[in-house]
Amino acid sequence: MSRIVYLNGAWLEETEAKVSVFDRGFLFADAIYEVTAVIGGKLIEYAGHAARLKRSLSALGIPQPVSDEALLALHREIVARNGLAEGLIYLQVSRGAEDRDFVFSGDLAPTLVMFTQAKAVLGNPKWQTGISVITWPEGRWVNRQVKTVQLLYSSLAKMEAKKAGADDVFLVEDGLVTEASSANAHIVTKEGVLVTRPLSNALLHGITRGSVLDLAARAGVPVEERAFSVQEAQDAAEAFITSASAFVMPVVSIDGRPVGEGRPGQVSRRLLDIYIEDRLASAI
Ligand code: PDD
Repeated sequence: MSRIVYLNGAWLEETEAKVSVFDRGFLFADAIYEVTAVIGGKLIEYAGHAARLKRSLSALGIPQPVSDEALLALHREIVARNGLAEGLIYLQVSRGAEDRDFVFSGDLAPTLVMFTQAKAVLGNPKWQTGISVITWPEGRWVNRQVKTVQLLYSSLAKMEAKKAGADDVFLVEDGLVTEASSANAHIVTKEGVLVTRPLSNALLHGITRGSVLDLAARAGVPVEERAFSVQEAQDAAEAFITSASAFVMPVVSIDGRPVGEGRPGQVSRRLLDIYIEDRLASAI
């Protein structure tokens, strides 16, 4: 079934929506994005995604293309127009289009694109088995806190994981894990402490990460924000990743070595349950 997508003020059949070949998102990856989950036709963590969108836009000096109220209305309308019960909303803002030049004009009109992806977000079968990761050298640019569409390195790294028969990567810089290809990485020590890298420009400030840390603390799980090594992750009781599309996904092996008992751990499962319950209650 063809989707209705949003492009700069127009609702169009997906085959009819066209962006200029001079768009700086296309030529320079000069664009930022957000991915928001939808369950039961409602937006999960909308406030967090909208706030991070503003931070990313402001980091690159791209004006917000529509008001806060209009942005929420567009999210609701794209869900309605596509009859989206469950899945994802992808939103991208690029700086806009003009003749190719490294120096850009200050007054470009941003390009705003939104589309939906229908998919079963709940009941992910991998939640039962967990995923395997390989370690891979960190090679992305240094401003990883900005959610830009420069995803080539992450995409190639994930392809390497697939080639190796694994599901994803743990990106490693100076011996320490930064994050997964498109999710934040966490471990639970044998003492039951949730360890996660503190926020910095080394990693994306995941919306799911923030909520899971809050919920963990409320559930009595001690949380320590510090970087961890590959060795520490392999020796941990549990590991998991968080993102808007996978929520809390257990990691059961790292470079072929089982984490804990090599199956999803209790803390990860509990956090997944708590996360879903809490976020469904606050979906809008
Ligand atoms: N990715 N780190 C990176 C590099 C990411 O791309 C993502 C999300 C996250 C998790 O952030 P959040 O919890 O806000 O989704 C961390 C999305 C899902 C994607 O690119 O599809």
